[in-house]
Amino acid sequence: MTTEFENPNFEALLSAEQINARVKELGAQITRDYAGREPILIGILKGACIFLSDLLREINLKVSIEFMAVSSYGKAQKSSGEVRIIKDLDVAVEGKDLIVVEDIVDTGLTLSYLLQNLQSRGANSVALVSLLDKPEPRVVKELKINYCGFHVPNKFVVGYGLDAAERYRNLPFIAVVKNPDLV
Ligand code: IMP
Ligand code: MG
Repeated sequence: MTTEFENPNFEALLSAEQINARVKELGAQITRDYAGREPILIGILKGACIFLSDLLREINLKVSIEFMAVSSYGKAQKSSGEVRIIKDLDVAVEGKDLIVVEDIVDTGLTLSYLLQNLQSRGANSVALVSLLDKPEPRVVKELKINYCGFHVPNKFVVGYGLDAAERYRNLPFIAVVKNPDLV
C-alpha cells in the first residue's frame, strides 16, 4: 500500500535517527563556538522550519529566531538564479551575530545573495548552517557552509522540511525521489 510515508517512489537516504543525532552534534558545536554571544538564527522559509525547530532546542545559549522567505523554484525543480525577498526580517541586525539556517544548498545562488544581503546590513558576523549540502550542481563555488549536516548526491530529495511542489515536508526522514515526474 502506498501511504504518504511509504511510497515506492522513495529511496531512503537519511533516517529520523541519523538526522536527530547529527542535529544534536551541530547544536553542540554552535553552542561551543558562540559561547558568551547571543546569536540570531535566521530560518529560511519554508524548507528550514523543521530543521530550525530541532536545532534551536540543541543550542544552550541565549538565542533568538527570525525568519526570511525568498523566491523559490515554485513547482520547478531547477534554480532560476533569480532571488527575491518575499518576507524580510522584522528586526535590525546591525552588530548582531547571525546564523542563517537553510535546508539544502544546491547551486548556492539563493544563499550567496542572502549572505551578502545580511552582511551589508552591518551584521557583526554571518554564518551558515545547512542540513544538507548537494555540492555537484554548485554554481557559487566559493560559498562557505560553516556547519553542514550531510552531503547528499545530485538527486532530488524530500522530507524533514524539504518539499516537492509543497508536498512531503512532513516526512520524519529524508528520501530520494526516484522518479521526479511522479511526485
Ligand atoms: P539553490 O539556490 O540552488 O542553492 O537553492 C536552494 C533551494 O532550492 C533550497 O533552499 C531548496 O528550497 C531548493 N532545493 C534544492 N534542491 C532541492 C531538493 O533536492 N529537494 C527539495 N528542495 C531543493
Ligand atoms: Mg529552501
